[in-house]
Order: sequence, then C-alpha cells, then structure tokens
Amino acid sequence: MKDKDDTKERSMHHHRLQRKLVDLTKKLFANPTVFVILLMLSYALGYISSPTFNSSRHTPPPNSPNPSIFQLTNLPTQLDNFRVTTRCANPIPPQNARQLIIDRLFNGTSPYSNFPPPHVTQLLRARRIKGWGSYGAVFSRLINKVKPRIIIEVGTFLGASALHMSNLTRQLGLDTQILCIDDFRGWPGFRDKFKDIQMINGDILLYYQFIQNVMYLNASESVLPVPYSSGSALTTLCEWGVTGDLIEVDAGHDFNSAWADINRAWRILRPGGVIFGHDYFTAADNRGVRRAVNLFAKINGLQVRIDGQHWVIDSAGNM
Ligand SMILES: C[S@@+](CC[C@H](N)C(=O)[O-])C[C@H]1O[C@@H](n2cnc3c(N)ncnc32)[C@H](O)[C@@H]1O
Ligand SMILES: *[C@@H]1O[C@H](CO)[C@@H](O)[C@H](O)[C@H]1NC(C)=O
Ligand SMILES: *[C@@H]1O[C@H](CO)[C@@H](O)[C@H](O)[C@H]1NC(C)=O
Ligand SMILES: *[C@@H]1O[C@H](CO)[C@@H](O)[C@H](O)[C@H]1NC(C)=O
Repeated sequence: MKDKDDTKERSMHHHRLQRKLVDLTKKLFANPTVFVILLMLSYALGYISSPTFNSSRHTPPPNSPNPSIFQLTNLPTQLDNFRVTTRCANPIPPQNARQLIIDRLFNGTSPYSNFPPPHVTQLLRARRIKGWGSYGAVFSRLINKVKPRIIIEVGTFLGASALHMSNLTRQLGLDTQILCIDDFRGWPGFRDKFKDIQMINGDILLYYQFIQNVMYLNASESVLPVPYSSGSALTTLCEWGVTGDLIEVDAGHDFNSAWADINRAWRILRPGGVIFGHDYFTAADNRGVRRAVNLFAKINGLQVRIDGQHWVIDSAGNM
C-alpha cells in the first residue's frame, strides 16, 4: 500500500514540475534577446562536439591506424597503465625446464607415455601436418644464429613449425627443447577446413593428433606441449623461471591477442635472445599483428626486422 502511495505522490510532483518548466520556456522565448543567446550557445556547443572539430585537434601520425594509443603512450605517466605485478622467478638452468614442466603440469608423467590411448587410436592419422609459412628461411636463419637451448613456440597447431625447428636443431647437433604453448582448440569452426581432425563429444582431437605427429617423427625428446591458453602459460613460465632463447609468436592474430602474447613472451625472453612471429606481411596482415608489433617496438625502443612473412626483434639489437 505504502509503495503505491509513494508512486502516486512522485508522479503528481513530476507533473507540477513539468508545468513550471513549460511556463518558464514560454516566458524565455517571448524575450527576443534570450532567444538569440540560446540559439548561439547551442550552435557553439554543437560545433565543439562535432567530429570534424575533434579530428582537427588530433592529427594522426603518418601510417598510424590508432592515433589515440600512440599519443597516450608518448606520455610516461600513461605508460604506468601497462605495468604488470607478477614477478618472474630467477631463470632456472635450461636443462631443467623439461622435467620441471612434466612434473608440474603432468604430475611427473610424460604426455608421450602410453600413447595413444585406446579410445582415440582409431581416430588419428599416422601423420597429419599442415602449417602456414612454417618452413620459411627465417627458422633456419634464427636457429643458426641463436643456437637456442630453449625455444618457446606460442601457437603450434599440428606442429608443422615446431617439427621443422626440431629437424633444424637436430641437424645442427644442438640439445634443444621446444616448448609448444597452444590450447589445441584451433579456432571456432576450424574443422570446416580440417574435417579429418575428429571429435569426441565436441572435444576436437587436435592435441592428440599433434602428439601423434611428434611421435611419428621421433621428436618427442625435443618437443614438449604446454597445452594451455597463451596468457596463463606464458605467465606461469615466468613465475617458474623458464626462459626462452628464441620465442616464436603465432597464436591469435587480432591486435589484442598479439599484443598480449608479445608482451608476455618478452618478459621470459633470455637477455640477448630473439623473438619473432608470423603474419607481419600476409593476407592476414593488419588484422592486428603488425600494429601490435610496431607499437611494442616503438614503446620499447626496439627495431623490427622483416624476414619473409615474419617479423623479428633481436633483444641484443643485432640486425
Ligand atoms: C596459425 S596456428 C599456429 C601454426 C603453427 N605455428 C605452424 O606454423 O604450423 C595458431 C594456433 O594458435 C592457437 N591459439 C590461438 N589463440 C590461442 C590462445 N589464446 N592460447 C593458446 N593457443 C592459442 C590455436 O589453437 C592454433 O593452433
Ligand atoms: C600424482 O602422481 C602420484 C604418483 O606419482 C599420485 O599419487 C598422485 O595422486 C597424483 N596426483 C594427481 C593430482 O594426479
Ligand atoms: C623432418 O625430417 C624428417 C626426416 O629427416 C622428414 O621426414 C620430415 O618431413 C621433416 N619434418 C618437417 C616437419 O620438416
Ligand atoms: C623414427 O624411428 C624409427 C625407429 O628408430 C625409424 O624406423 C623411423 O624411420 C624414424 N622416423 C623418422 C621420420 O625419422
């Protein structure tokens, strides 16, 4: 009952207020001076808030699709927004990385042991590999130059680039571990083009086919999956002190994904190491990778080198 009364009272009050406003407006507009002032004021306000007025004050820098971010990052105080609070642990020796990951992620049991489990055996192909620019000359150039003990790959899919790198390090006689970060989900709808990757209850078998590929090529001693999302995996490696001598970024290609992956990967790059990634120059370009790489380099005062379809940043500055 009380609620109803309140509502009635409020609505009557509202009506009274409305009537007063209408009266006031009538009086004001009857006075020609007030009318002219109001007219000028509304024109000025409209002009200030119009898009043309704004853009004349913010001239975008050349070739920059996102001027506001570029301008913000020029201000040291705004850079503080990019800070991260997790601290990376002191680097562990590279020869300990594989066992640490097997212990902490897989409870001490290698993901290759007792593979394949009976329920997926019939659903896998002996070897099913497909990559994108996964055999580019950049891989052999960088592996020859860096001679990495630890390679971290962000975005592995069926293992084309990882297995290519494994071949290259083997040819050079290097003792290299390749850590493959991927959630092994692909992307929504990827099976439209990969119908032969089977599903069990909606669970795609990308991870199992990757393991199968690695074992088929006898690379299980040098390639290890880290089957989690790039954000949590990179952050966890940082907290465990796992660093990479060479890091490849090839997961999500939108700006936000590439930006986050590059920034997180950079924190676990060994000083003097090299970070690189795909799709700087391809049909997929300017979906965001190039903008993320350029912004990252600009903020950190780094040089971006182009190698085929790939971008390369050498933390030691050697080009
Ligand atoms: C272009 S494919 C990688 C291709 C591979 N580097 C090659 O050359 O053969 C991209 C991969 O990134 C993975 N990916 C995308 N976003 C991810 C995320 N946020 N976390 C983990 N993996 C992700 C997908 O599952 C997919 O396998
Ligand atoms: C980890 O493995 C040990 C045996 O090595 C087992 O007792 C334990 O239950 C396992 N823990 C989990 C969380 O699976
Ligand atoms: C790696 O080398 C093996 C044989 O040496 C070859 O069969 C295989 O295709 C190579 N794999 C990749 C992914 O380059
Ligand atoms: C893997 O190892 C087996 C057994 O040693 C060998 O028969 C096979 O040719 C090897 N495969 C590759 C691709 O090197």
